[in-house]
Amino acid sequence: GLKYFGAATDSPGQRERAGFESAYPQYDEIMWKSREFGQTTPTNGQKWLFSEPKRGEFNFTEATIVTSLAHKNHKTLRCHALVWHSQLAPWVEETEWTPEELEQVIVDHITGVMGHFKGECYAWDVVNEALNEDGTYRSSVFYDTLGEDFLKIAFRTASKIDPDAKLYYNDYNIESPGVKAEGAQRIVRLLKDEGIRIDGVGLQAHFVAESHPTIDDHISTIKGFTKLGVEVAFTELDVRMQVNATEKGLVLQKEAYKNAVGACVQVCGCVGVTIWDFYDPFSWVPPVFPGQGAALLWFEDFTKHPAYDGVVEAL
Ligand code: XIL
Repeated sequence: GLKYFGAATDSPGQRERAGFESAYPQYDEIMWKSREFGQTTPTNGQKWLFSEPKRGEFNFTEATIVTSLAHKNHKTLRCHALVWHSQLAPWVEETEWTPEELEQVIVDHITGVMGHFKGECYAWDVVNEALNEDGTYRSSVFYDTLGEDFLKIAFRTASKIDPDAKLYYNDYNIESPGVKAEGAQRIVRLLKDEGIRIDGVGLQAHFVAESHPTIDDHISTIKGFTKLGVEVAFTELDVRMQVNATEKGLVLQKEAYKNAVGACVQVCGCVGVTIWDFYDPFSWVPPVFPGQGAALLWFEDFTKHPAYDGVVEAL
């Protein structure tokens, strides 16, 4: 069975930046006080852009609002994300680094951020989204300067800084068999062959209701990872559709949620499921995929999607 079912969440400050009010008592009740979720992930606060906006100047204000609520309310914490090409502080991208300099930048970042939260995180997404859709490495300041050594540097450093945190590689479109999932397997082997610790692979699981993976796809992909000696988690599950949502869309969405949670329940080595927030208005989907939304389990009026029952049926 799963160790947790959780939902990512942002601090009120981060939500205000996105144009929302700061106080949502009904939201807080479900997120923190109810027993709906046993786990959370700070959606944005730990990312490089916010945690080290200038070199050597660390800022944990927004992240700590979420992590301290997690502790206070006894939620398991997944931490996210140390090395990622997106939401990266501009100073990292705007400088021409030698490989040695960039290695030091990565080591210092991981040391500062992971060190700050040492002992607090069940798991850390150490590297996020290093792959293209065809399974090759994505061009980024990290890969372009250091090649695949950046992965070794990141995981080697992380293993020293917090020995108790599970170290994850996290990516999207690796929830079904194919070249990108094989790319993620290659990363696991790359690190393990060097004797570098990697404990898990995170399947982001940002799905589309009309074309979601089958449960068998999930099961064989998860087993492909667990065979290599790592655990698996669904880390950012959501299922978007055209809005306004139709009944058909919501039925397909229910299937998609049920397949993901059901696969995780059925394969030993899949430890948990995190949805990427739970309340539709706070989803990342509408701003990024215009015309789409209704991707989570609670509608704007705080009624539940049919997919909520899909999750319950699968658990
Ligand atoms: C998203 C957040 O939800 C948004 O608030 C932010 O503006 C952009 O990033 N993959 C990831 C997450 O690993 O960190 C992303 O989160 C969604 C895609």
